[in-house]
Amino acid sequence: MKKRFGLLLALIAALVMLVVPVGNTTHAQAADNSLEKIQKKGVLVMGTSPDYPPYEFQATVNGKSTVVGMDVQIGKKVAKDLGVKLKIKSMSFDSLLVALQTGKIDMIISGMNPTPARRKNVAFTHTYYQGGYDIVINKTDKAKYKNKDSFSGGTLGAQTGTTQYNASKSQTKNTTVKGMTSQSDLILALQSHKLDGVAMEKPSAEAYVSNNKQLAAIPSDFNMSSSATSSAIAFRKGSTSLVNKVNKTVDQIKKENLVKKDYLPAAGKYLKTNTVNTSMTHYWKAFLTGIEYTLIITVCSVFFGFIIGILLALARMAKGNFFKNLLRWIATAYVEFIRGTPMMVQVMFVYFGLGLFVNLPALTSGIIAISLNSGAYVAEYIRGGINSVNIGQTEAARSLGMSNGETMRYVVLPQALKNIWPSLGNEFITLIKDSSIVSIIGVTELIYQSNIVRSDTYRGVAPIVVIMVLYFILTFTASRILNYFERKMQHD
Ligand code: ARG
Repeated sequence: MKKRFGLLLALIAALVMLVVPVGNTTHAQAADNSLEKIQKKGVLVMGTSPDYPPYEFQATVNGKSTVVGMDVQIGKKVAKDLGVKLKIKSMSFDSLLVALQTGKIDMIISGMNPTPARRKNVAFTHTYYQGGYDIVINKTDKAKYKNKDSFSGGTLGAQTGTTQYNASKSQTKNTTVKGMTSQSDLILALQSHKLDGVAMEKPSAEAYVSNNKQLAAIPSDFNMSSSATSSAIAFRKGSTSLVNKVNKTVDQIKKENLVKKDYLPAAGKYLKTNTVNTSMTHYWKAFLTGIEYTLIITVCSVFFGFIIGILLALARMAKGNFFKNLLRWIATAYVEFIRGTPMMVQVMFVYFGLGLFVNLPALTSGIIAISLNSGAYVAEYIRGGINSVNIGQTEAARSLGMSNGETMRYVVLPQALKNIWPSLGNEFITLIKDSSIVSIIGVTELIYQSNIVRSDTYRGVAPIVVIMVLYFILTFTASRILNYFERKMQHD
């Protein structure tokens, strides 16, 4: 017991050592060849959280859900001036800074304010737009709320990781502040009276209000420095040459007043057309893609998880010399560790953490994380299955002259598998549902698609009902199929 504990501690220590020094150094200092690097790569990956009209939002363009808005126009101009292609990666606002620091994206344009705290971790260009803060409320409450101070005793919502969230927390009294990752969810919560107001940038507040007759905007009266109310582009810390170059573009945008003259009116047009089609059937393609990815992740993870599970189970049952004991300890520590940490954390660790060494795409990261996780659980099923095979079977096989390995392969494992088939089936069904966690790293599975449809249509409940039904159809069909095979196995 003591030994095992020591090993576990060593494992954790090793993990921590692996992560801590790396987090501070990579991508940061080093000689500054940031400009050269982007131009050589030929693409500039822009990270953004498209729930913030007119800055960035989803709109249907030529039948396809696309990220549009003034920040996208700015990104396009920046890329054009650098002579590279622009690629847009959508994610939640509170993931943007990590994604930039770990190299998942090259820059952030997301209505982000260059606050001193953020400046410590990333480099900002000059500001391109001055916004200011408003609070969106239900129109029926107009008499009740005048500014931030009217919410005493009430609930104010703001997007997590934003300056509005911090301001709402620090500059109100007696007010409950609720953070949510998505701006569209905040608006839905407001409309269903879970919140009394939502703090956001003034232009965004105006966009939501003009798009929805039940809403109104009031001034926030937050006391903010001007850097906390204007937006800038963020790059990795130390990217001086890149920032200097992009500053020229930003300065030109400002000098020619491009945001007010071109970018905002263009965004406004999308905002109007955006309200047209909100029927769920219109989005069948998005849901279909979601199903496809959910199934890809589940099938791959069950397959790899099963292989990992067999190996782990065998390792956990190894006994004898030093090497075998070591193997057993490692396998045991692994299983304990995986089962003792949330899968969500593991997914983020693989995507962002391992991402410091190898740049894994989100889908691959998701499959790796879920396979590694599932492997630990499957190992336990398999171990139980092996233990359930009567020892007499092994003895008989051994006395017939079979080696240890042969006995395992031809006699024990086949019988064990038959015993654990129901548990493996359960694992498959569980993974269909749990694979939804990878939506947080931007894998386009069902949950992710439903979020896109929700922010596209501003409809909160319908997309949730749709995916609920879809998940049920998937799991129910899967369990019928598995039952069929189970019955068949019982017969032969
Ligand atoms: N301006 C605020 C900040 O920098 C919020 C920006 C939110 N942007 C978005 N795309 N949702 O914290």
